[in-house]
Amino acid sequence: MKLLKQVIEDQGVVLSDGVLKVDAFLNHGIDPELMSEIGREFAARFEEAGITKILTIESSGIAPSLMTALELKCPLVFARKQKSLTMQDNLYSADVYSFTKEKYQTISVSKDKLTKTDNVLIIDDFLANGQAALGLASIVQDAGASIAGVGIVIEKSFQPGRTLLTGAGLRVESLARIASLSENKVTFVKNEEA
Ligand code: G4P
Ligand code: NA
Ligand code: NA
Repeated sequence: MKLLKQVIEDQGVVLSDGVLKVDAFLNHGIDPELMSEIGREFAARFEEAGITKILTIESSGIAPSLMTALELKCPLVFARKQKSLTMQDNLYSADVYSFTKEKYQTISVSKDKLTKTDNVLIIDDFLANGQAALGLASIVQDAGASIAGVGIVIEKSFQPGRTLLTGAGLRVESLARIASLSENKVTFVKNEEA
């Protein structure tokens, strides 16, 4: 997605060989016009897929997911990172390992938010190690629903996430694919569609 790549080049900050800071428009500040374009792009890529629901994870997955849900005219659910003790029996949960935080985190969705007849599009802001997306996928499977695919705003293609997800049979659509963050600059994957 041409506009997204442009914004990453203009406003993204390479913090290290592995980490891109995008607080200007995605992870802290949010650019509404960019999010709207992102929603249109995901919707175009999945418009034939028969999506009935979007599933993401708080907090940074919510903005791009909301704009996509608006385009696809379907509801949005976000997994919570803090489990409500009073709702334990009514939750689908998954333990997600964070390589950056070096710990497991339990993510949860109320059982009444997903049904067997749902065809779910999973969306997240970053794809790094793929653990968040796999956790969301396992929640959809627990609900007996179908997974139409995974939509990612920024994929770090030099990390194992995409391979893990496609290896699990999931369709992955990333709007910007980063081949490298070394030498303090963003290098996108070549030959991808704009
Ligand atoms: P994984 O799900 O792909 O395995 O991700 P990982 O554990 O490595 O990442 C943990 C958090 O760090 C996630 O956000 C993820 O989106 C974010 N992240 C991973 N790589 C980058 C990066 O290069 N730049 C930025 N800005 N973020 C990155 P989170 O903790 O769930 O936070 P949030 O959704 O509340 O923002
Ligand atoms: Na994040
Ligand atoms: Na995230």
